[in-house]
Amino acid sequence: MLIFAHRGASGTEPENTLRAIQVALDMDVAGIEIDIHEVDNILYVIHDRWLHRTTSGTGKITQHNTKYLQDLDAGLGEKIPTLDEVLLLVAGKCIINIELKGISNIELLFSYLDSALENSPLILDNILLSSFNHHLLYHINQQRPEFALGALTSCIPLEYAKFATQLNAYSIHASVNFIDQALVDDAHKRGLKVFVYTVDELDDIKEMQALGVDGIFSNFPTRIKDVTPF
Ligand code: G3P
Ligand code: MG
Repeated sequence: MLIFAHRGASGTEPENTLRAIQVALDMDVAGIEIDIHEVDNILYVIHDRWLHRTTSGTGKITQHNTKYLQDLDAGLGEKIPTLDEVLLLVAGKCIINIELKGISNIELLFSYLDSALENSPLILDNILLSSFNHHLLYHINQQRPEFALGALTSCIPLEYAKFATQLNAYSIHASVNFIDQALVDDAHKRGLKVFVYTVDELDDIKEMQALGVDGIFSNFPTRIKDVTPF
């Protein structure tokens, strides 16, 4: 089962910061999950649309200019990283799962990825793009089918993993709160991997192993050993 550090090693470090990502790399995780938002043609690594929970700022991220955002404290003196900073840090070391949250311009995303692919040890096989916005994933697949896609769901759809097949996805990313054997089996029958968020409790980890999922996202990546290659 693969272990993805959820928002970096966010159980012990400020989430979605370079520090949390470095700590996750030091734990030798198989992958790191981050969330991104676009503001003024810059892709920032941050989970919320609002700044107050994770930074020293207030208001919505899209209300602010670059100078304001770059000066904020995202915890323990860390800055809100940009996607290129994160790609540079993880390149050649593990899988990077980029969860697309506040994104409208996929060309901008492609330019970040292409630049990192060209100028760093980042390889295509270590990029996994995911989103709850399946329309966005659809457009990515239409334009750049070489990027592996993770289709997020927080429910058990009537037709199980069919939505992910329609997107030509690599994996489904399902919620620990709503997953069952039928969804796992249906996804596997369709050739899809099953990654589950957010799994921190030992009891849940064991349950996910029993269901035969392929990976989990955890805020505490060291709670389970990584035993399966990507
Ligand atoms: O990508 C898995 C998980 O992060 C999805 O939910 O809200 O934690 O970004 P959220
Ligand atoms: Mg996320």
